[in-house]
Amino acid sequence: MNIRDKYKFLKEIGHGFNGVVFQATEIASSNKVAIKIIEHDKYQDHNETTCMSMINSKYIVNLIEIFKTSKHLYIVMEYLDKYVSLHSLIDNHFKYDKIFIIKSLCRSLSDIHLNHISHNDFKPENILINLNKEYVKVIDFGFSEFGENCKKPFIVCESHSDPLFTRHSLQNQKSNIEKWIQGDIWSLGIIIYTIIVGHIPRKNYKSWDDYVNNFNYNNDENKELIDNFIAELNINLSNLLSKTETRVIPII
Ligand SMILES: Nc1ncnc2c1ncn2[C@@H]1O[C@H](COP(=O)(O)OP(=O)(O)OP(=O)(O)O)[C@@H](O)[C@H]1O
Ligand SMILES: [Mg+2]
Repeated sequence: MNIRDKYKFLKEIGHGFNGVVFQATEIASSNKVAIKIIEHDKYQDHNETTCMSMINSKYIVNLIEIFKTSKHLYIVMEYLDKYVSLHSLIDNHFKYDKIFIIKSLCRSLSDIHLNHISHNDFKPENILINLNKEYVKVIDFGFSEFGENCKKPFIVCESHSDPLFTRHSLQNQKSNIEKWIQGDIWSLGIIIYTIIVGHIPRKNYKSWDDYVNNFNYNNDENKELIDNFIAELNINLSNLLSKTETRVIPII
């Protein structure tokens, strides 16, 4: 069956390194779906749908079905209606329940990792939040790896990904899925910092471009960044504590 006999494509809702995402409806039911289209030469060694189908979690976007042609892979997913990206929400006026969102993020990553899958692109653009229920859904498994036997070389950062959020710091070391999972934990730490503080850890940099251009891809320690990160987090956590009578509860 041709995908266009089953789904009506409505409008483009996003695009990135790997593909274009459309909003569509299933003709028979009128249900909304999201369809990601990836070109043939990009999906050869792609684990996206395998990883999505292996995870059963309310924090992960649901895969409905896939279609393949000689030129394209079509990934049909649930349409996340009224969701916005975490990226669009982060600033100093973030008014949503930070602890609830952070706990949901921890649980989402735990559900992914329990299946021996690493996300590898865990960043605010790939985290969608429903503003009414503050419900969190992780999308975009385009760079994911899976399995105990995953031998893909563990890299610091691919040119297309965000050097801060996907700073996989164990370059040239023997790779296995655990190393990739450690990379996701790094990303989670940066995201938690960003949610709490209201911006990325970038104190010594004048602008985002300055930060990206000067990022030290090969330095495992990157000590200054990490020291600032911890110092600023301490300050902000004590501010948060002094403003509220609630104690900070342990996450998960
Ligand atoms: N299931 C969905 N429901 C609603 N919107 C979605 C859904 N999936 C993706 N989107 C929108 O499309 C954008 C791009 O999707 P996604 O991150 O999967 O693609 P990408 O960034 O091109 O992927 P990759 O990083 O693999 O190249 C998202 O940021 C989001 O705004
Ligand atoms: Mg993306």
